[in-house]
This record gives sequence, C-alpha cells and structure tokens, in this order.
Amino acid sequence: MLFDEVLDKRYSARSYKKDMPTDEEIEKLLDAAYKAPIANGAYEECRLSVIKDESLMERFVKEYQEKTHKDKNPLYEAPLFIIFSSSKDTSAAYEDAGCVIEHICLKATEMGLASCYIRGSVNALGKEASYIKDLDLDPGFYPISGLIVGYADGDAQIKNHHIKTNYIV
Ligand SMILES: Cc1cc2nc3c(=O)[nH]c(=O)nc-3n(C[C@H](O)[C@H](O)[C@H](O)COP(=O)(O)O)c2cc1C
Repeated sequence: MLFDEVLDKRYSARSYKKDMPTDEEIEKLLDAAYKAPIANGAYEECRLSVIKDESLMERFVKEYQEKTHKDKNPLYEAPLFIIFSSSKDTSAAYEDAGCVIEHICLKATEMGLASCYIRGSVNALGKEASYIKDLDLDPGFYPISGLIVGYADGDAQIKNHHIKTNYIV
C-alpha cells in the first residue's frame, strides 16, 4: 500500500470482529513500534505489553467503569490491546507513546487491520490501578497510553480533518 493511502485509510476504529490478529501480524506491528523515534533514544525506558488475554481486558474495563461510573467499554471489545509504558517522569513519556502508537496504527492500516489510540481510560485509571500488576512491568514503569487492534466490524470512516495553519514568510 502506498504511504499516502495508508494515511488516508487510518482511522480510529471503535467496532471490531472477534478474530485475533495472527502472531505473525503482531510481530510486524511490534517491528513497526521498535522503529519509532524515542526522546534521547531512551528505548530502555519504554515497555510494550501485548495483551491477548480477554480476562485482563475485562478487568481493565470493569475497573474503568467502577472508577468513572460510566457504562462505556473503553476498549470497544477489540481482541488485542497493546499498552505503552515508560519509566520517564517527564512529558516525553507521552510523546514517546504517541510516536510508538502511531507507528503501530499506520502499520496496522497497511496490513488491513483496524486500530484506535487508547489514552483516556489508561489515564483515568492512573498509576495505582489494579490491572497494572498483571502487566508484569519492571519496577518504576507505568502505563502511559495504549492502542487496540483487530479487524474492523463495519466500514472505515471518511476523514476530512484539518488543522488551522498559518505561514510566516
Ligand atoms: C493522544 C490520543 C489519545 C486518544 N485517546 C483515545 C481514547 O482513549 N479513546 C478513543 O476512542 N479514541 C482516542 N483517540 C482517537 C481520537 O479520538 C481520534 O484520533 C480523532 O478523533 C480523529 O479521528 P481518526 O483517528 O478517526 O482520524 C485518541 C487519539 C490520540 C491522538
């Protein structure tokens, strides 16, 4: 797929089929993640948790719903949840997450997979959430953001985004 086509086709999918991406597909997504830029090249301060375990995702959703008193499923019943964690205590952690997650989203699009950035619920649950212990992270690492991946159930959304831009010449 041409790069411009990848950019056009990437969108935030919020409805998924049950099918799990194959291990080979997941490896390709991770390979794209590892090629992302990271502030100061500090790759050792980053972690990725690949969550296929439905029960862990259910616990995440339950914890989110209990904490926020919302009915919403923030993971949209996607089959795969990838969490980016960091040991940085600066805003670079969020910027690193953005680069890694967008690399994965674009690669997923190129492979015909759907994805969605997941920040709100990870942030709402915070650093003390119960699900974090199941991620088996090294000490000092905390989830920053994540993404969900799977096969879209439904049509892609047409995008017409614009960012107001000015030129200083
Ligand atoms: C940093 C960031 C955090 C986001 N967090 C969430 C989220 O928690 N849940 C969600 O459904 N979408 C989330 N999104 C997706 C945005 O809502 C979406 O990218 C935006 O509305 C544009 O739509 P598009 O991705 O379909 O082009 C997030 C996107 C970014 C960049």
